[in-house]
Amino acid sequence: MSVCGGHVFSEVRGTLVSRISLGTGAAWLEIRLPGPIPPVRAGQFALLSLPEVCDPLLGRPLAVARAQEDRVSFLCRRAGRGSGLLADLIPGQSVDLRLPLGRPVEVPQDRPVWFLGGSVGAAPLLMAPVPPGFRGWVLGFRDASWGPALEHLRGLLAGLPLTVACDDGSLGPKGNAVSALGERVRPGDCVVACGPEGMLQALRDLSRAGGFQAILGLERRMACGFGGCLGCRITRRDGTSARVCVDGPFFDGEELGDDVFA
Ligand code: FES
Repeated sequence: MSVCGGHVFSEVRGTLVSRISLGTGAAWLEIRLPGPIPPVRAGQFALLSLPEVCDPLLGRPLAVARAQEDRVSFLCRRAGRGSGLLADLIPGQSVDLRLPLGRPVEVPQDRPVWFLGGSVGAAPLLMAPVPPGFRGWVLGFRDASWGPALEHLRGLLAGLPLTVACDDGSLGPKGNAVSALGERVRPGDCVVACGPEGMLQALRDLSRAGGFQAILGLERRMACGFGGCLGCRITRRDGTSARVCVDGPFFDGEELGDDVFA
């Protein structure tokens, strides 16, 4: 185990044991670790890289979608070269991981709570314990090419209330996750969300107008993941700065400066 700036994590070489293609360049990756690691909780992430690969140089931050004994799983979507290499891994290949990183998401226990996810961006909340006031999941997808991802998520969320929205109406009622949440959310509720920045910004704006709390999971490029490089710094509304990797990745929408989504 390593300790940097008070943050405890492991650096290990794991082996991909299972890959499920979810279409559209996305995949569910299950990795076996060589030994025990510090406990992983919902909202935390890992930096993944491939041995002997220097391009890209930096690891790719991925939320831990499941952690059981010596296995960790991730939802990976091809968004560039690094994530593409990971999404195309085949069982038996080695993966270097630094984990767990980031603070666990704190889900309110004293009010109605919704979980909102933009397709496979929902990964950080998949391990979150269901709070007493849970109202349901709302997932948004672009089009029918995300059908396999939706079915995989349905399986993981079996038994929980789930609303699906789709930009072109092919997988559910036409609209996006924020519009599907729409008037169902009440003042005083809390919406915990992760996914594309446009979705998070729309939710943050809606929460300010609607009087509900929005807790938003941010994604940033990361070099170290433990607060050392300042590469993931953002500005809070009060002018102070925060590092997404150690102060987040989840932040109260009220904390965030207006330029976070610029
Ligand atoms: S990634 Fe280095 S400080 Fe956040």
